[in-house]
Amino acid sequence: MDLARNIVDHTGELFQAQAHIWNHIFNFINSMSVKCAIQLGIPDVIHKHGQPMTLDQLIDALPIKNAKAPFVYRLMQILIHSGFFIEAKIPGNENDNQKGYLLTSASELLLKSNPFSMTPFLLAILDPTLTDPWHHLSQWFQNSDETPFYTCHGSSLYDLASHEPRLNQFFNEAVASDTRLVSSVVTKDCKHVFEGLNSLVDVGGGTGTFAKAIADAFPRLKCTVLDLPHVVDGLESSENLAYVGGNMFEAIPPADAVLMKWILIDWSDDECVQILKKCKEAIPSKEKGGKVIIVEMFCKSQQKGDDDHEAIETQLFFDMAAMVLVKGRQRNEKDWAKLFTEAGFSDYKITAVLGLRSIIEVYHN
Ligand SMILES: C[S@@+](CC[C@H](N)C(=O)[O-])C[C@H]1O[C@@H](n2cnc3c(N)ncnc32)[C@H](O)[C@@H]1O
Repeated sequence: MDLARNIVDHTGELFQAQAHIWNHIFNFINSMSVKCAIQLGIPDVIHKHGQPMTLDQLIDALPIKNAKAPFVYRLMQILIHSGFFIEAKIPGNENDNQKGYLLTSASELLLKSNPFSMTPFLLAILDPTLTDPWHHLSQWFQNSDETPFYTCHGSSLYDLASHEPRLNQFFNEAVASDTRLVSSVVTKDCKHVFEGLNSLVDVGGGTGTFAKAIADAFPRLKCTVLDLPHVVDGLESSENLAYVGGNMFEAIPPADAVLMKWILIDWSDDECVQILKKCKEAIPSKEKGGKVIIVEMFCKSQQKGDDDHEAIETQLFFDMAAMVLVKGRQRNEKDWAKLFTEAGFSDYKITAVLGLRSIIEVYHN
């Protein structure tokens, strides 16, 4: 087929294809523009203003060089397009055409003062330590390294974090920021998950954000956080919260329940079965009140014409990130059920309360 002739005969499709490619070439500009807005404190400045903020007011309030003032408008234009700000009339100036910037629910979730701020997660994922491995993805497909992260840095993510305090700190803070939101919903709306438990161990529980929230909400429940020594060293225990440095592949302290949030997504199927078997050893049977509580995504299958385009794309992004940064993957219900059966569990229950994520309670006889 004469490809050049065919293309010229279908110019409509040709330019649509060109626009599609341009859009994908420049897709990273969405992420980088939000990162810049956060680093300049734009959401916080607009929030503090308390009403629609004009461009001139925004420029005056930002910590930027005078010579860069004309460029702020352009940054705001793309951030309006991507849903982080809106423009609204200034109250009292309704007859005037002048408008000001306001936050959207997405930029509210990036405010430093928001207890559920996603800013630490955004800054971590867009830090060069975690973005550089993407440049090694094709190389990784042709070598024997375990991850593109390893090809890039010569070490796994968690090994590198044990040597690099900056990575350890920003990674722990990133996952903790996500857990602040999840734990507040779970301890409020899913109390039944913890009822009847006397002890719980949060496996890979980071710096203890989830365990602290559970320990506060259920003062009679004895909580333990198990994580790698470089994560938990120096953290202070309280009456019903203790930290243990260790390796979940080797031993998990015994408890009525094991909690695992954002753990299994990091690991291959074989490694997940090993971890789940250790969990099974640590807890009693269902009859005696034992369970594993997992917080993860359940992938929807991709269906043609599905109108949930953004949710499916987000799941695919997480799946790719799990492949590039660690050795894991996203899973659908069938994949999860297979892991539970292989590890010797008999039964599970899913509660879909966390947007794209669910709580999965897993039991054995
Ligand atoms: C994605 S983070 C999730 C942290 C926490 N569960 C949360 O969601 O806030 C994965 C955690 O697993 C820990 N981890 C990795 N390998 C581990 C191992 N072999 N034993 C125990 N913890 C481990 C990491 O240090 C990290 O804190």
